[in-house]
Amino acid sequence: MRLLVCGGAGFIGSTFARLRVREHGDEVTVLDKLTYAGRRENLEDIIEEIRFVHGAIEDAQAVADAVRECDAIVNFAAETHVDRSIADPEGFIVTNMQGTHVLLEAARVKELRYLQVSTDEVYGSIAEGAFTEQSPLQPSSPYSATKTGADLLVSSYFHTYGLPTLICRGSNNYGPNQYPEKLIPLMILNALAGDRLPVYGDGRNVRNWLYVEDFGRGIGHVLAHGVPGEAYNCGGPDECENLEVVRRVLELTGREDSLIEFVTDRPGHDRRYSLASGKLRGLGWEPRMRFEQGLERTVEWYRDNAWWWEPIRSGAYRSYYQRQYGRALKT
Ligand code: NAD
Ligand code: DAU
Repeated sequence: MRLLVCGGAGFIGSTFARLRVREHGDEVTVLDKLTYAGRRENLEDIIEEIRFVHGAIEDAQAVADAVRECDAIVNFAAETHVDRSIADPEGFIVTNMQGTHVLLEAARVKELRYLQVSTDEVYGSIAEGAFTEQSPLQPSSPYSATKTGADLLVSSYFHTYGLPTLICRGSNNYGPNQYPEKLIPLMILNALAGDRLPVYGDGRNVRNWLYVEDFGRGIGHVLAHGVPGEAYNCGGPDECENLEVVRRVLELTGREDSLIEFVTDRPGHDRRYSLASGKLRGLGWEPRMRFEQGLERTVEWYRDNAWWWEPIRSGAYRSYYQRQYGRALKT
C-alpha cells in the first residue's frame, strides 16, 4: 500500500510507519510539522526507506504535494497533551479540527481511503464498565473536544460524500519514544534522575494502558479490514490507577516511594477511561503486550536511550517543567 502518514514523526505515528515498512513493505510518506513533539530521531532507522515531507496538515498546498501517489491517508497529526490544551487551546483547534478538514478535502478530491486516529477521551469518563462505539461522545477537555469535533467531521464526509472513512479510537499508549510530558515517560525520567514524581489529585484516576505497537497493529487492522463509515475501539488489556503506575516505575528504577509528590489536580480531570474492543477483536486483532511486561520494557528503553531524551530534558522541556510545576528540574 502507498500510505500518507500524517504526524508520523510523533510517538505513535513513527511506530506505525516502522511497522508498515518492516511488516508490510508499504511505501510510506510521512507529513509532519515537527512541533516540539515531532522528532526526526523517531524515524532514524527507517528514514532511508520512507519519504519525509516537512509541513502542516492545515496547509492545503503541503497536503496536496504530500498526498501525490498515495492510496490512503492515516492521520495521527494532532496536538495531544491535555494539560497544554487547558493552558492554551487555540493550537488544538487549528491542528486537530482545521487540519483534519484539510486532509478530508484532499482525500475527497483524490478518492482515497481515510483513517482518523482518535482517542477514548471522546467518550469522557466512565465510573464502571467500558465504552463501546455506541456510547455517546462527551469530551471534557479542549483536547478531547477537538478530537471529537474531528471524529464528527470525518463521519460527515462518509455520510455526505461517500468518502471511505474509518476511525480508530485508542486508549492510553505507552512505550519507547513517547515525549516526556506524558505520565509514564515523565515518571521514568524523573525517577532515573532522582527528581520528585508529581501525581495529580489523589492519584486514583484509572487509565487503560495499551502498548504502542499493539495500537499500531490495531490501526493497520482497521485500515485493512474495517468497514467504511465505522469507528473501532482499540483498548489495552490492563487498567491501572496512576498511583500504582508510579509505584511500579519507582520499583523498576530502584527508587523510594518518598519521591512521590501529590500536586494540584488537573482541572476537569477525567476519572476513568475504559474501552470495550470487541468490534476490533472481531476483525482478528488482539493486544499482545500485558502492562507489566510492557512497562518493564519501556523503563529499559528510557534507561538505554539517553541520547533520545537528553536534548529534550535539557532544553524546551526544562522551561515547560518550570511553567507546569512552578520549580526547576533537579538534573
Ligand atoms: P505526539 O504528540 O507524540 O505526536 C504528534 C505528531 O503530530 C508530532 O510528530 C507532531 O509534530 C505532529 N503534528 C502536530 N501538529 C501538526 C500539524 N499541524 N501538522 C502536521 N503534523 C503535526 O502524539 P501521539 O501520542 O503519537 O498521538 C498520535 C495520535 O494518536 C493523535 O491523534 C492522538 O490524539 C492519538 N492518540 C494518542 C494516544 C496516546 O496515548 N498518546 C491514545 C489514543 C489516541
Ligand atoms: O486516553 C488516551 C489519551 O491519553 C490520548 O488521547 C492523549 O493524547 C494522551 O495524552 C493521554 O491523555 P491522558 O491525559 O490520559 O495522559 P497523561 O499522560 O497526560 O496523564 C495520564 C494520567 O496521569 C492522567 O490521569 C493525569 C495523570 N498525571 C499526568 C501527568 C503528566 C499525573 O498524575 N501527573 C503528571 O505529571
